[in-house]
Amino acid sequence: MPFYKCFNLLTIFLVLAATPILSSSEQLSTKFLDIAKTPEVFDWMVKIRRKIHENPELAYGEFETSKVIREELDKMGIPYKHPVAVTGVIGFIGTGTSPFVALRADMDALPIQEMVEWEHKSKVPGKMHACGHDAHVTMLLGAAKILKQHEKEIQGTIVLVFQPAEEGGAGAKKILDGGALENVTAIFGLHAVPNVPVGLVASRSGPILAGSGFFEAIINGKGGHAAIPQLTIDPIIAASNVIISLQHLVSREADPLEPTVVTVSKFQGGGAFNVIPDYATIGGTFRGFSKNGMEQLKQRIEQVIIGQAGVNRCNVTVNFFDEVSPMNPPTVNNDELHKHFQNVAGNLLGVDKVINMPPFMGAEDFAFYQEVIPGYFFMLGMKYASLEPFQSLHSPYLRINEDGLPYGAALHASLATTYLIKIKQ
Ligand SMILES: *[C@@H]1O[C@H](CO)[C@@H](O)[C@H](O)[C@H]1NC(C)=O
Ligand SMILES: *[C@@H]1O[C@H](CO)[C@@H](O)[C@H](O)[C@H]1NC(C)=O
Ligand SMILES: [Zn+2]
Ligand SMILES: [Zn+2]
Repeated sequence: MPFYKCFNLLTIFLVLAATPILSSSEQLSTKFLDIAKTPEVFDWMVKIRRKIHENPELAYGEFETSKVIREELDKMGIPYKHPVAVTGVIGFIGTGTSPFVALRADMDALPIQEMVEWEHKSKVPGKMHACGHDAHVTMLLGAAKILKQHEKEIQGTIVLVFQPAEEGGAGAKKILDGGALENVTAIFGLHAVPNVPVGLVASRSGPILAGSGFFEAIINGKGGHAAIPQLTIDPIIAASNVIISLQHLVSREADPLEPTVVTVSKFQGGGAFNVIPDYATIGGTFRGFSKNGMEQLKQRIEQVIIGQAGVNRCNVTVNFFDEVSPMNPPTVNNDELHKHFQNVAGNLLGVDKVINMPPFMGAEDFAFYQEVIPGYFFMLGMKYASLEPFQSLHSPYLRINEDGLPYGAALHASLATTYLIKIKQ
């Protein structure tokens, strides 16, 4: 064999050796993204997202949204449980037997008046999908459509969790209390973010979002004429002292190396310039990354409010909303699932599109799942490129880029399918 021929063969051999043979799960992921981008799936998702966006519903009131979900599942022939946690829907794709892996989407909107003028603006005054949960529902339905087409390749059961009341209603906890996720061995969730470009994702292993609690205090004094303070007990001064003292919990009591937030975001009292009111109301939120630290902080918030109000001769009732809005644990990502996510997202999007993000003080009720099931939460880029500066989640000006929908749908589908393949091995 002449040398040049041998050289050619060698080149071919080297090229072949350098091209990794795509594993079946990698091929599946790429296929899922291609399918999600076809007009059949993409246009359908856009339509659903806009329909839900036009009709936002608040926590535990997601009846129409729930109905849209069930109608779509019915059309696809996907069985589901309903109602779970009032409006929740839990769908099943695959063999119907173990292992089980769950994908979660939250359904609720916010009490915000939408300020974006566009064709599909919220039709409900004072309510808006300002946290992107309309897109979350849509992308999970998108994943369902893709997965149903590949049901024979699913080596176990994928559990679709459409959850109510993420915004302070602990819907995740209510879903868990229903027992529907009993045999699930991993759960994935995502959040659309308006500051990361489409095609990029961001997350990290370990703590990613803070634990969060809410409090409110009604500080009772004795109202009277503003010119005769000696005959009154002034609740405004008492509340002011309480607010200042609460700040010392962070500056003087918390470990400076432990991220902690106490914010008094509500302060109401009085109405006239010449009247000292009977009472004043304050309220706010507290955040941290350790569950024990959060319990202690909660205790100290109560002590400071009662003690400081007492110094000012006021009585006080403190409410932590344990029933309607229990304390949200910190969101902590499982390390094994982090590696799985990096593999799947890296293959699907390119490793340079998978960002390692620092933790931040926002909160997610996805954390309730992670307390009992290994879980993984990540941010999905849905930046609306022409909107500068970008508008944050919970802004009445929020716009999200629908071009991100196929990425969320494909990631959901791929994460679950390849997870089941992986644990079977
Ligand atoms: C979980 O598995 C156990 C044992 O196989 C079974 O009895 C139970 O019904 C399962 N729960 C759910 C919600 O599927
Ligand atoms: C506080 O509560 C005590 C006991 O109920 C009551 O006697 C007192 O008047 C209350 N003070 C105020 C400022 O409401
Ligand atoms: Zn939100
Ligand atoms: Zn949200």
